[in-house]
Amino acid sequence: MSLKRPLAPGRWWQGVIYQVYPRSFQDSNGDGIGDLKGIIERADYFSWLGVDAVWFSPFFTSPMVDFGYDISNYLDIDPSFGTLDDFDQMVAALHARDIRVILDYVPNHTSDQHPWFIESRRSRENIKRDWYFWRDAGPNGGLPNNWQSLAGGSSWELDPHTGQFYCHTFLKEQCDLNWRNPAVRDAMHDVLRFWLERGVDGFRIDAVGCLAKDPALRDDPPNPDFRPGDPPFARNLMVNSANGKDIMEFVGGIRGVVDGYPGDPVLIGEVYLKTGEIGAYYGPELRGLHLPTNFNLLWTPWKAKPLLEVIGAYEAVLPRGAWPDWVIGNHDQPRIASRLGREQARIAMMLLLTLRGTPILYYGDELGLQNTEIPPGKLRDPFGLNMPGTGQGRDPERCPMPWDETPKAGFTTGDPWLPIAGDGPRSSVQFQRADKSSMLSMTRNLLALRRNEPVLSRGSWSPLPLEDEVLGYVRSLGKSRFAVLLNLENKAQRLSSTEITSGRLVFSTHERDRHAPVKQNLELAANEGVIIAL
Ligand code: NOJ
Repeated sequence: MSLKRPLAPGRWWQGVIYQVYPRSFQDSNGDGIGDLKGIIERADYFSWLGVDAVWFSPFFTSPMVDFGYDISNYLDIDPSFGTLDDFDQMVAALHARDIRVILDYVPNHTSDQHPWFIESRRSRENIKRDWYFWRDAGPNGGLPNNWQSLAGGSSWELDPHTGQFYCHTFLKEQCDLNWRNPAVRDAMHDVLRFWLERGVDGFRIDAVGCLAKDPALRDDPPNPDFRPGDPPFARNLMVNSANGKDIMEFVGGIRGVVDGYPGDPVLIGEVYLKTGEIGAYYGPELRGLHLPTNFNLLWTPWKAKPLLEVIGAYEAVLPRGAWPDWVIGNHDQPRIASRLGREQARIAMMLLLTLRGTPILYYGDELGLQNTEIPPGKLRDPFGLNMPGTGQGRDPERCPMPWDETPKAGFTTGDPWLPIAGDGPRSSVQFQRADKSSMLSMTRNLLALRRNEPVLSRGSWSPLPLEDEVLGYVRSLGKSRFAVLLNLENKAQRLSSTEITSGRLVFSTHERDRHAPVKQNLELAANEGVIIAL
């Protein structure tokens, strides 16, 4: 692999990671589903935008019950996405542009169509029986325990053939692997090696906390904060069904494999945890995950005080030397521009790209895409279909990328598998590229600024408590000090603080005289964010 573009000092995964949901990025063969050849066609977009790496949601062989998170062969590409040859070409295309490739690694469960599970369910004595969690019925013929599937219903499914239940943290077609079995660990480590040998630069580990379940499979305790309308799985706290004490042994084993490869491969881990709980996933002496995902911005009220508190709390609990990361969207969460509105989505993007740590940017958030309305007959996500009325459906945030102003938005020539995202031509990349004030142009400018000003990626972070609803903080590196001021309200606000008495404006979400000197009592326009060099 030859990487030409000079990277900022530090490690490559301290740059910006862009998430692609492959079904919805670019279709090359008119079947309405995005594919690897389509990604190759769009490779220039990643470098034009200015990201450092792309994480791809799964494109491995799969019955597609959970659209690729149910894998029946970890070592091949699903025909709907292409071939291993296409994969090699895609990696080459991205590496030629100095963009790293991060794959989605799904270790907690295989598809029920995976040969391992087909073997395992054959008989109670099968050599692969212990590769999965098989249990007899509980007392009175009930379920083995009270664990709830995150896809709706119980985590246990009866297999009539052998009369035992198997465990599935997600859909019943996603059968949980038993990571306490060394043969399972070896087989899953081989999966990592296979892709590392093919040149990938790291992995995002799906549902990593679920690998460590209570060995005695004890019930989960009830959640005292459960409210009517919450999804059914929220009735319990996932104390025994996930995040067990030996999780770091499994993570450490995975880390041991990737550390044997050159190029500093990264491990990102999907952990939905509060700030105080994330730190453990970096592991003793930082020998665990490089980037346990930090989703805290997703569930913090959009107000200056709680946001400053959560950012400060996270910074404070990170182990020494641990590198932070930030997320404002992914393929499982409502679009940020729907949660906050279009104007505040710009502010959220600015927050994401000006905090200390790696931003993980979900495709289409750079366009300010909102949740797409899906006509009732067209819903695809089984989570949503299993749990109607609970807001668990994920189709709205997974819709195809609008590239241009043509009716099918340049995504496909066929029938797109979900409606194209956006509100028509003005949402498209083509339109927004030409519009200097668009969300896309703003995001690209911010990415460029972040690349040119190391203080924005590596500088220390300190809060700037301001009055009213302006979120403020200062980034510092050597002599460089940047203040970031984000107006969280839809009305102009004048700063009364004496903290910012002078400086030079280096960025604004709005039209402003760049490089104009900043005086005391700066007024921010409604929904405006600025960066000031102090
Ligand atoms: C988390 C993934 O992000 C989600 O999309 C998937 O459905 C579950 N894990 C199961 O793999």
